Amino acid sequence: MNKQIIVPLDMDHDKAIELAKCFNPELCRLKVGNQLFTSSGPKIIEELNALGYEIFLDLKFHDIPNTVYEAVRSAADLGVWMLNVHIAGGRSMLKKAKEALDSYTQPPLLIGVTMLTSLSNEDVKEIGINDISDSILNLASLAKECGLDGVVCSPREVSLIKDKLGKDFIAVTPGIRLETSSDDQVRVLTPIEAVNNGSDFLVIGRPITKSRNPLESLKEIITDLNS
Ligand code: C5P
Repeated sequence: MNKQIIVPLDMDHDKAIELAKCFNPELCRLKVGNQLFTSSGPKIIEELNALGYEIFLDLKFHDIPNTVYEAVRSAADLGVWMLNVHIAGGRSMLKKAKEALDSYTQPPLLIGVTMLTSLSNEDVKEIGINDISDSILNLASLAKECGLDGVVCSPREVSLIKDKLGKDFIAVTPGIRLETSSDDQVRVLTPIEAVNNGSDFLVIGRPITKSRNPLESLKEIITDLNS
């Protein structure tokens, strides 16, 4: 159960390395997203790998198929454990992303983003989507058809997705909160609720990284999940 938690390092380079040194690769995996990757460059992956961590590179590729193909190969060459693309990029893009990993003996897990967990029902209506659940299920089905390993979704949508697409289709869930404060996240649940819904990996950021003692907060969540 321990390595179910992925801690996003949404911070600058020095803070990220400090936090990685304070955690332990036996306890969690780490996520490098747009903020850290854009400010630090690919060397951050090398540094975190050298500390023994498995890395989820969360750059959410969404572009024409050929560009995504090349970006996925570049990400795989960095030695990441998991990477992701936006499913909304469509079938051809998803197939190219999958094809990009064909020649790797140990390819990273390829995960598709359904819909950002910060979007509310009103937000999705504004971008022309009427039923959020229907749309997420459609996107997840397309990702599975194209050979992706799983999806990023809200912990609230996991059971729906697993019921339709099977337990082995990986669900990675951000939008985890310990108490009432949700920051900018909207479709949130607690860690235990997320795991009970079938979540395979929990992305838990600010509740850990902004706490007074990040290592203690991480350990408390792991203890709760294991009890
Ligand atoms: O701090 P917090 O727990 O909200 O962090 C959630 C992390 O997961 C952020 O790094 C965010 O970019 C990422 N994420 C998300 N929703 C998605 C995909 C990724 O919140 N659909």
